[in-house]
Parts: sequence; structure tokens; C-alpha cells
Amino acid sequence: MDQVVFHAGHAKICKVEKERVMEMEKLVSLCKRRGFLFQSSEIYGGLNGFWDYGPLGVELKRNIKEAWWRDMVSGHNELVLAEEAPSLFHMVGLDSSIIMHPQVWKCSGHYDLFHDFMVDCKESKKRYRHDQIRGRWVTSRGAEIFVATQVGGEEGDKETEQRALKYFNLRSKQAEELAWNGPLVSLTTVADFSKVLAPEAKTLGTLTAPREFNLMFKTIVGALGGEEDAAFLRPETAQGIFVNFKNVVDSSRVKIPFGIAQVGKSFRNEITPRNFTFRSREFEQMEIEFFCHPADSPKWYQYWRDRRFRWYLQLGLASSRLRLRDHDKDELSHYSCGTADIEYAFPFLPPGEFGELEGIAHRGDFDLRSHMEGKLVRQGEQLVVESDEHGKPRHRGSGKDLKYFNDQTRERFIPHVIEPSAGADRGTLAFLCEAYQEEQVEGETRLVMKFHPRIAPVKAAIFPLVNRDGMPEKAQALYGELKKEFAVFFDDGGAIGRRYRRQDEIGTPVGITIDGQTLQDSTVTWRDRDTLQQKRLPISQVKEELRAFLAPAQS
Ligand code: GAP
Repeated sequence: MDQVVFHAGHAKICKVEKERVMEMEKLVSLCKRRGFLFQSSEIYGGLNGFWDYGPLGVELKRNIKEAWWRDMVSGHNELVLAEEAPSLFHMVGLDSSIIMHPQVWKCSGHYDLFHDFMVDCKESKKRYRHDQIRGRWVTSRGAEIFVATQVGGEEGDKETEQRALKYFNLRSKQAEELAWNGPLVSLTTVADFSKVLAPEAKTLGTLTAPREFNLMFKTIVGALGGEEDAAFLRPETAQGIFVNFKNVVDSSRVKIPFGIAQVGKSFRNEITPRNFTFRSREFEQMEIEFFCHPADSPKWYQYWRDRRFRWYLQLGLASSRLRLRDHDKDELSHYSCGTADIEYAFPFLPPGEFGELEGIAHRGDFDLRSHMEGKLVRQGEQLVVESDEHGKPRHRGSGKDLKYFNDQTRERFIPHVIEPSAGADRGTLAFLCEAYQEEQVEGETRLVMKFHPRIAPVKAAIFPLVNRDGMPEKAQALYGELKKEFAVFFDDGGAIGRRYRRQDEIGTPVGITIDGQTLQDSTVTWRDRDTLQQKRLPISQVKEELRAFLAPAQS
């Protein structure tokens, strides 16, 4: 099976790149060693693009999803928010099915438009996404060719230069005979593939023309199913919310503006899954569809961009590694009239590059209208129902009235939608990358995962200093008491220093030790993972202290 790929062929890459890859490899190794993440089906060689969360990983990811649900849905305090937000609003949840009526995907646009273009290399047998290949034009010995870098390669990297030299039959010391024409550009700007030296090829023109590849996984519903019973695993959770919009309005007391939230699995048959869990084929999303009056949509768009950005900062991502980037017009999805991405500087990316954590899209009325009228296409500034050669809708909508009726203003309208769409796995990966630290303490390297206490898999570890004099019994009693409310861990094996280190490595923020003094005055030591400071407090106050320590900030 595939290794964990960060950049293809990283044996030859430049120094900075190598350091980054090594840092990432250390994190990947920790994840496996301590049970955060495993390759799916590893004993059979693994399956590319699929991952399993181990005992600690499942807790970490669950904590992230729960923090999101609590901060955005169940703990969302509309009365407090009313003071700062444009107006009071409700947030409710939903859990829709993964397989839905195939017409959902026809009207959403995924059936026709959710594809990537791929190119195959006839020499290396590798497959690439057309838009992910980059390279430079170079002239030598009277010929100009396009030399593609390896995926993730940078301008001026040695590897690309070496391949260009080899192609022109030159030695390293003849590098000045290569005239590089312009900066690194995308393969999408190249019309003539016969001049392209593919990323892992030695001869020219080995890439096939770009071919469309739909990213939805297909399946068959029912034992007798034929092609007409084909269905798809959802590529986003969002559509489950749109098709239930009317059900939610009719069954709960929500009034516009309000949001429907959903957490669940999505599936995309990605052409090049890579960078650990960053681009997987099965992943989890945490999505909100926020329905509002069209006239208010710009201010809600702004509101959600800011609120979601703040959330990542509150949970510990460094502001220097996080940014909010507005999409250019040509980057917008088929439905979007405005999108901003929250991006994180993942360590596996070249310096200065960021990867998407979450998109906040202004989807207008595209989805509800499509599910009413049929698949829409853009005609100038207008969205119109796409028609077939007979002038009928190409993909029929449900024909149901999905408009909203405001019984106070007596207005009937199709709401506009703001969609903050986050990836739970990408979030988890960002928090893992952010947490990983190596520190020098008393001449030794301390490996510590500095998770925010709210998302740390284990909140506190309880240690008897030694296994005698009644310390284990006291520690077990405290453990039993705390376990009712928190994810705590009991460890009585080995020297206390080693036990602390083991907990540092998995990011446990608090260590509580029962020692000789506990037997005299019923106090314990509380050790802080990050500052390494220790304090004493009565054993009877530990639960309350832990509760306060873990309490979320209002977001
Ligand atoms: N409903 C809108 C939507 O799905 P998207 O930008 O395609 O928008 C939203 O996906 C988020 O889902 C991304 O920001 C990312 O965090 C996550 N995501 C998308 N594709 C992914 C993949 N192949 N692997 C892991 N996470 C992915």
C-alpha cells in the first residue's frame, strides 16, 4: 500500500522541504504509536484515502465535534448573541441519511458538475489532478519544453532542475545552459502536452489529455438493482439539510433567520488522496446551513466568517498559522456568490502556503430553488432552470413549495443561505499539527501534545506516587469519582517522571499525584502540562477545579 504521502519522491527534495516532511513524519509516527490514527485495513496493506481513528484519536475527534456542536448548536445562547449579532436566531440539528434519492444530486449540480479533470502518465502509470501539476518552461539546445515539478515541488527545486538536465543530456555543472522562462505555472495553462515532461517521466509527451472524473461514489440500492437503481454516497452533508428544510420549519418553531446543523460522513472518490487525512475519500463534515432573508444575507455572511474564524483561535490554533481568504470570482463553486476559506498553514505544505479547513459560502437561493424547480445554471447574472433539447428541465426539481412564509410581514420568499462547512478530519489534523511540540527540559527532549484542554483526549491522569502506604487506594478512589464526569486515566506503573512523560505525549493537560502529604493533610499535587508548574489543593476540590479548567469560553 501507499505510504503516507506528503510529497512524491521526497528523497530528493530540498532541505527546508525535507525538514517539514520529517516533522510531519514524526507526527504520523506518534499518531500510530500512541493510537490516534491508523491506516485503514492496515493488515492487508491499507487502502489509499481511508483512515481509522484509534482509542485516543476517536476521543480527540469526538471532542472537536462536540465542541463544535455545543458552541454552534446546543450551547448556542441566542439571548446573549442578540446583543452583538444582527438579531436573535435559533440553531437546530439534523441527522440525515447518507444515501438519498438520486435526483437530489442531479438538482444540486453534483451529478453534472462535481468532477475533477485527471491526466495519466503513460510512462510512470501515475494519475494526477490536471490542476495540481505545476511546472516551468525551459529552453536549451534550441528546444523549449515544460518541466513539471513533483507534486508539491517548488520553484527552483533541485529535483526539477536535475530532470531538465537529464532530458537535455547535460551535466550538473552545465546548469546555466538551461534558460528558465517565467515562474512556476499550472499545467492547465499548457495547450500542447507533447512538450510536457511529466512529474515522474523521462520522456516528453507521456501525459494523456485531461479526462473528467466524477467524484461521487456510486452504489446500487436493492438486491435486483440495475443501472436505474444506481445511487450515490453523499459527497457533502449539506443536501440532506436542504431537502429537509420544509420538514424542519413545519415541525419546530424556528423562524427565519435560523440555522440547521449536521455532522456526518461524506465520501469523495478523490483522484489523489494525500497528506495524511487532509484529503481522504471518506471524511466527516460539520456543516451549518443558515437560512435568512435575502436582504440580510451580506451581514450574516460577514457574521459567520468572523464567528467561525474566532472558534479555531479559541480552541488553540495560532493566529499566525490561520487566515481567512476570500475566493476570487473564478474560484467560486457553481452555486456560490461569495466564499471565504479559513485556512491553516499545515506543516506539510511549502512555506507560505495554506490548506483549507473550512469554507463559508454565500449560496444564495440556489439549493432551495433547484430542489423546487430543477437544476439551475447561470445565464449572465441570472440563475435559470437548465433545459434539455425539448425545452424541458434537464433535471426536474421536486415541484414542492420550499418558500418560507413570514406570518408577521405576510411575505413569502425563498431564503438565502450562508453555509459554514468545516471538515472534522481536517480540523483534527490541524489541532494535531498545532499541538505537536518538542521541548528541551533539564537536558532532555520532552515531546508534548499541547491540545486545548477542551479537546484533549484525556483530561487528567491520576497517579499514586508509590504503590504502598495506602496511596494506590486513595488514587483509585479519586479516579473512580472523577471518571463519572471526565475522561481520566489511572497510571501506577513506573517512575513518576516516566508517567508524566507518557501523558505529555498524548496531551493530557493535568496530572494529579497522591503522595505522602496526601495521607497527612488530604491535599494532592496538580501538575500543569504546559508550564510544568505544580500546586497543591485539597482532594475534595479537584473535581470543581477540573470543571472550571475545562469550561468552554462563550463563542
Ligand atoms: N457543502 C459545501 C462543501 O462540501 P467543500 O469545500 O467541498 O464544501 C467543506 O468541503 C469542507 O469539507 C472542507 O473545507 C474540508 O474541511 C472538508 N473536506 C472536503 N473534502 C475533503 C476531503 N477529501 N478529505 C477531508 N476533508 C475534506
